[in-house]
This record gives sequence, C-alpha cells and structure tokens, in this order.
Amino acid sequence: MKLQIKPDYETLCSAVADEVFAQLSCKPVSVLVFPTGNTPLGLFKVLVTAHIANRVDFGQAHFVMLDEYADLEASDHRSLSGWLRRELLDPIGIGQDRCHGFEWGMKAIEETIARLGGLDLVILGLGPNGHLGFNEPGSAFNSRARLIDLTPASIRSNSAYWGADDLVPRQGYTLGLGTIAKARSIILMVSGAGKASILRNCTAQKPHTSIPASCLQLLPQAKIYTDVAAVSNALSTQPDSQQSK
Ligand code: PGA
Repeated sequence: MKLQIKPDYETLCSAVADEVFAQLSCKPVSVLVFPTGNTPLGLFKVLVTAHIANRVDFGQAHFVMLDEYADLEASDHRSLSGWLRRELLDPIGIGQDRCHGFEWGMKAIEETIARLGGLDLVILGLGPNGHLGFNEPGSAFNSRARLIDLTPASIRSNSAYWGADDLVPRQGYTLGLGTIAKARSIILMVSGAGKASILRNCTAQKPHTSIPASCLQLLPQAKIYTDVAAVSNALSTQPDSQQSK
C-alpha cells in the first residue's frame, strides 16, 4: 500500500483523475468502480470537464457498482446507482449496457466481473467506521458480493445525505473486500480533518477485520490519496510525500 499526500482537496481530486486518465489511455476497455458519497464529487467534476473537452474517452469502459441500498425502487432518489448516474455516468454518456449493478443478484455481479476480465481500477471512499463500500466492521477480508446489515455508525453518516436516520435503508449490497482485493489497481480517497482519526487507525494498526480499510495494507496495488487535512494529526509527513508499506 502506498500513501500519497496532497496539499488540498482539489489537488487530491486532480491526482486521482490523472490515475483514471492513465488507466483509460493504456486500456480503453477498462472495468472501473467508483464510490458515491461526498468525497468523490470533486473527482467527478474533473472527469466530466475532461470528457466535455474531449481529453478522455470513456467510450469503451465498463462501470460496476460498488454498493447500493437494499429494497429501493430504481427510481428512488436515495438509490446509489441513481446518484452515480446523475453525478458521473449521465454527464460522461454511459448507457445502462455498460453499467453493472446488483439488480440481478450477488452471484450475477461476481460473474459479470469475471466475464469482463476482472476489475481494473476501483476507487473507494472511507467510511467513518473504516468501511469500504458497505463492508462494515467484521467483514472478512476474503468476502464476496453480498447483502449486509448497515451499522448504526453508517446509518448515522449516511443520514447526512438524506436528512434523517429514518430515511437511511437498514441494509445494503456491496462488493466484498475479497472482490475489491482482486482489482488490478485500488485507490482510496480520503479528505478532511474529520477522517484523520479513522485514517490513522487504518494505516497504523495491524490489519484487522474490525477496521475493514486496514485490509489495504496487505495489497501492493492499493494507494491511499489523501489531503493534508486528513493526515494533520495522523502522520508527520509533508504534502506530496509518498510512503509505502
Ligand atoms: P463520504 O462517505 O465520502 O461522504 O465521506 C464515505 C463513505 O461512507 O464511504
């Protein structure tokens, strides 16, 4: 696992966008996974701007959903695939035929990933409890796509998106940590002082299922891109520095 520290959120988003551009220029038919949440919104803006300016070609890429709430109508405004579609997939012109979600079941999404030749680049956000996707604390490092009960911590943090705890579904579907670990490249985006404590736990403590994102320490193809705010109290490192584990 490598750590890249950027001076601020904008630089962090540009650097992750450069990773996406590099991936697509070396393999236009890449299979990509993007998270939802607040952290990737700046990245999506950079990608959409580049698409409009013809600086990137998403024309052959496939997109696999990272996670989704269970038991929601596809048209429900809380649907995570709807969120990704509004913020990224529609603006960059990706049809349903190249977007793969959980609607056909857990076995089907794993089979789709295998049929597409595996995941090339998975971009992740970090939950306040260390979750990746909806892989909550206790998730096995070799877990596969499945239905999972959301923890109170995730329900609380997700309530910021929808206005109240009661509006957050209690279960979700997620790619498993084992599914993610097989990706050729993995990037975890972490921004802001509010993530400093959980980021420190993810990187400094021995990998353990109680902190799902700590599994990244075991993966040489994983990079954490963070801004200074998220490491201000976590690590004594300078902007643009790199650390390896
Ligand atoms: P955030 O969510 O990007 O809104 O902080 C991350 C997550 O919970 O996975």
